[in-house]
Amino acid sequence: MKKDIKSVEYGLEKIFEGAKDFLPLLGTDYVELYVGNAKQAAHYYKTAFGFESYAYKGLETGSKDTVSYVLKQGKIRLVLTSPLNSKHPINDHLRKHGDGVKVIALWVEDARSAWEETTKRGAKSYFEPRVEKDEYGEVVRSGIYTYGETVHVFVERKNYNGVFMPGFVEWKSDYNPPTAGFKYVDHMVGNVGWGEMNQWVEWYEKVMGFVNFLSFDDKQIHTEYSALMSKVMSNGNGRIKFPINEPAKAKKKSQIEEYLDFYEGQGVQHIAVATDDIIKTVQRLKDYGVEFLPPPPQAYYDMIPERLGEHMKMMKEDIKELQKLSILVDADEEGYLLQIFTKPLQDRPTLFIEIIQRMGAKGFGAGNFKALFESIEREQARRGTL
Ligand code: FE2
Repeated sequence: MKKDIKSVEYGLEKIFEGAKDFLPLLGTDYVELYVGNAKQAAHYYKTAFGFESYAYKGLETGSKDTVSYVLKQGKIRLVLTSPLNSKHPINDHLRKHGDGVKVIALWVEDARSAWEETTKRGAKSYFEPRVEKDEYGEVVRSGIYTYGETVHVFVERKNYNGVFMPGFVEWKSDYNPPTAGFKYVDHMVGNVGWGEMNQWVEWYEKVMGFVNFLSFDDKQIHTEYSALMSKVMSNGNGRIKFPINEPAKAKKKSQIEEYLDFYEGQGVQHIAVATDDIIKTVQRLKDYGVEFLPPPPQAYYDMIPERLGEHMKMMKEDIKELQKLSILVDADEEGYLLQIFTKPLQDRPTLFIEIIQRMGAKGFGAGNFKALFESIEREQARRGTL
């Protein structure tokens, strides 16, 4: 584990020092979910998670077939899209997958070059570079497919001064629930099928120039009943991190397999959002009805000082308070992190949100996996899908 963290740095440094990064990424631009009822979903994400109204397109703006609500919190832009008639192809996506992430959009300097460089290396095109214009300038976008029906859209907005992008209008609302303190997308995790993790690791290396900087096998991520494997991919500057999970064989059904069954394919498992004050964030979310995975047992909290070792000295949070809110703690050689996971955000046990506060640690909570998975399994057992 320690060695892995070191190799991260070497991996990333190599990219900086070596050949020019052929796909420079400035950050996550937006995350788009296809949902059954965007209007109601927007209300839920505003109320429960503290997103603010940002931009809109629909019948009133001349969009006859689809409606999209754009919500914002910190640097995170969440787009919720629904079809407005039975013939639109988004219906096929919804029928198969239910509500879920369709687009992980990445902010780039040059969307034409991003499309050319990735398709040249084997990416399947979602759409060719296209320019959208309005009175505020132009946005260039292009797209490629990744795992399942999920896509990456490259967004070039350096010549645009409007609210979100052409086609959208500013969305002002009288209803503005308090923020939850989300800052940015820390990482987004994809679940892929049996035996397919390495294939997607290679795809991100070859097609997008990412490096694999952390790996966890089923010996590290398992409980008595279920197991999974995970490899974390990062782009050159470390702003984009995509862990890729695949199920592993164990006594009972892996939570990844449960996801694949209910999403009916590969897709985004969770969006991890960063906060500076997880206690405040989680308290706010709980006050507005967000449900989290049940807490680990008392023994987990008793062992925190031992697990954190010297990082205990820099820990500002009170363990009792963390326990009260079921927040998890993990450490690596560089620091510690605090994290918590919501229950699935829709009726199918598929997409959920992670809240993470990094206090120096660069990992993903590997030390919590066992406690966490036992908690997930208790939920799986309740659903009869373990
Ligand atoms: Fe995560």
